[in-house]
Amino acid sequence: MEKTFIMVKPDGVQRGLIGEVVARFEKKGFQLVAAKLMSVSSELAEQHYAEHKEKPFFGELVDFITLGPVFAMVWQGPNVIATARQMMGKTNPSEALPGTIRGDFGVNVGMNIIHGSDSQASAEREIALWFDEAELLSYEKTI
Ligand code: CMP
Repeated sequence: MEKTFIMVKPDGVQRGLIGEVVARFEKKGFQLVAAKLMSVSSELAEQHYAEHKEKPFFGELVDFITLGPVFAMVWQGPNVIATARQMMGKTNPSEALPGTIRGDFGVNVGMNIIHGSDSQASAEREIALWFDEAELLSYEKTI
């Protein structure tokens, strides 16, 4: 089953939006298979955002993601990578449609609440970077 890496960034955590984000994914019908509230080291931040290393905002990106705890998750379900991107909305909250997470709660392109993998390759890379294999749980609905 397809999996994606989703992270509530420090702005989302500090504004009390973890529950809102989790609720949207649960209500959509996706399954949570891993989650943790954690501080992010600069090393992890730099690895996570490695593809943006040459961008002028790379330093800001690393500073922002390391400034407070993030809520890192893995969600599973059919077409979850692309669907999660739709649920998040465009990267820049001022372009994100109402009804999307960034459209409803995002402030600016840096403080945009949430990160989600943008492709199968990114999802695999990011899940392996943020989680140990043993942290990914597999379970069926039994109640
Ligand atoms: P994210 O999905 O976490 O992946 C890369 C991030 O870079 C993106 O969300 C934005 O928060 C951030 N970003 C993109 N463009 C800019 C920019 N011009 N200035 C600051 N941050 C940016």
